[in-house]
Amino acid sequence: MATGKLEGKVAIVTGAASGIGQAVALRFAEEGARLVLADLNASDATLSQIVARGGEAMTVAVDTSSKDSCDAMVAAAVERFGRVDTGVFAAGIRQDPVSVLDLDLAALQKMLDINMMGVFHSARALARQLVAQGGGGTIVNLASTAGKIPIPGSGPYCMAKAAVIMLTKVMALELAELGIRVNALAPGFTSTPMWDPEKGSDEDLWAMSMTPMKRTGTPEEQAEACLFLASEASSYTTGQVLYSAGGQFVD
Ligand SMILES: NC(=O)c1ccc[n+]([C@@H]2O[C@H](COP(=O)([O-])OP(=O)(O)OC[C@H]3O[C@@H](n4cnc5c(N)ncnc54)[C@H](O)[C@@H]3O)[C@@H](O)[C@H]2O)c1
Repeated sequence: MATGKLEGKVAIVTGAASGIGQAVALRFAEEGARLVLADLNASDATLSQIVARGGEAMTVAVDTSSKDSCDAMVAAAVERFGRVDTGVFAAGIRQDPVSVLDLDLAALQKMLDINMMGVFHSARALARQLVAQGGGGTIVNLASTAGKIPIPGSGPYCMAKAAVIMLTKVMALELAELGIRVNALAPGFTSTPMWDPEKGSDEDLWAMSMTPMKRTGTPEEQAEACLFLASEASSYTTGQVLYSAGGQFVD
């Protein structure tokens, strides 16, 4: 239900063409935010849905693994809307399982460039803008339960997500006095193009064996959790990791 939780706010969402990022963009627009839809792929489908519902949005082509591209993304947002208030950094990739011993270094580098440095460049570029605006604002970095539990065969992904969690905590402390809140969302298995195993397959059964609720999450459920972290609903919360993961972590 829309209650104007982001009325008047400007939000940048990376990964806005698909999955969780797309759901976040649609939900934020519903709450009154003006959206900057940033992705390597075209976010036109997200844009047209927002516009059809009377919202305001722009698309930006970004490669989050590039510092210059992320700086240009924030600059484009400021040029269009005059300011930015929040960012959800959901651009990311997944790779086929491989052991650390057999890992191809180019593949490892690609994972770190996108899933770790991509969040770093995005969050830093936005934080610099928030500081220039005089403080305030929120940053939500997409981590994963894989940033906390080691998964054999997913070394690069786990390394990158663990780094995102620590980046989030360090930035939160550095920016707390300026009223800039930095939190991470750590989804569990969520039905998107990134996580789409056939029901009953070995991969699906493995995922469900780790998930007490015995179902995958939806992008809309993750978007709701992002809305909490990005909005005033979490006004006294910073440096935290919200595990939206069907009970994977209960400590
Ligand atoms: N789906 C899950 O089960 C799950 C679980 C935990 C964490 N996550 C994380 O949530 C985030 C979103 O995942 P998703 O499931 O929505 O995936 P998705 O594949 O549906 O969407 C990812 C988007 O990121 C974009 N992207 C990839 N590389 C990019 C780059 N270099 N620059 C800009 N955009 C780029 C893609 O074009 C795509 O639109 C990711 O960080 C992912 O690691 C997903």
